[in-house]
Amino acid sequence: MTQKRPLVIGNWKMNLDYVEAVHLGQQLGVMLKNKPVEHTDIVVAPPFVDLRSVTSIIESERIPVEVAAQHVNANENGAHTGEISVSMLKRLNVKWILIGHSERRAMYAMSDELVAATLRSVTRAGVRAVVCVGEALQVREADEHEAYVSAQLASALEGLDEKSRELISVAYEPIWAIGTGLSASAEQVRAMMDHIRSVLAQLSLGDARVLYGGSVNAENAPSLMLEGAVDGFLVGGASLKAESFMGIVQSCDDCYDGKR
Ligand code: 13P
Repeated sequence: MTQKRPLVIGNWKMNLDYVEAVHLGQQLGVMLKNKPVEHTDIVVAPPFVDLRSVTSIIESERIPVEVAAQHVNANENGAHTGEISVSMLKRLNVKWILIGHSERRAMYAMSDELVAATLRSVTRAGVRAVVCVGEALQVREADEHEAYVSAQLASALEGLDEKSRELISVAYEPIWAIGTGLSASAEQVRAMMDHIRSVLAQLSLGDARVLYGGSVNAENAPSLMLEGAVDGFLVGGASLKAESFMGIVQSCDDCYDGKR
């Protein structure tokens, strides 16, 4: 199997105001200039209110990083107070959108149906989508995690048209590993990567990159990459500091050899 080009996404969640966000963007720019990354696609997902500032700094300083939004409304426009549409994000040069993060599913009532509808809006607009899946601890303890994740994927991805497929990546983030400091083991990740790839192949999405997220740091990234066989990472806490985020990016870049 050929190794896919790694993708590392920093999900800043509800952290960093626009001044702090610009500062972090500039730090990433300096680090990438001093030590360019050859093989890895780098994306950051700031809060909505930081997007304009971050895309501006990336464009003006030619920083090799793309920008994602953490969420989007599934509707095109209209009476949706407090919401943001895909076309608004596109206009800001946002290239990626995270869809169905477990925090949105758990705390903001994002159902499987809404995840699927959002995915359709995003891909229809030609924007790249990262579909987030992952089980809670009790699902894992009941040994139902594979069935649970298959159902999340099938519900989100079933019936996508040909053109949309190339826009999709998947992030496996077990809820019990998010923000806990307890990453899933490389073996657990490997088993789930194999499972997700077989589900994706059945849905004609064999080319999609599959990321892991949940307490990733520069120390555990190499073994998750090599033994866990991931195509990259969705990083929370460790993406808020340039050194730790770039440590993860660098280890992906170092682990890439184009084959596995
Ligand atoms: P942590 O890396 O902080 O565990 O967060 C993972 C995550 O939820 C990224 O989307």
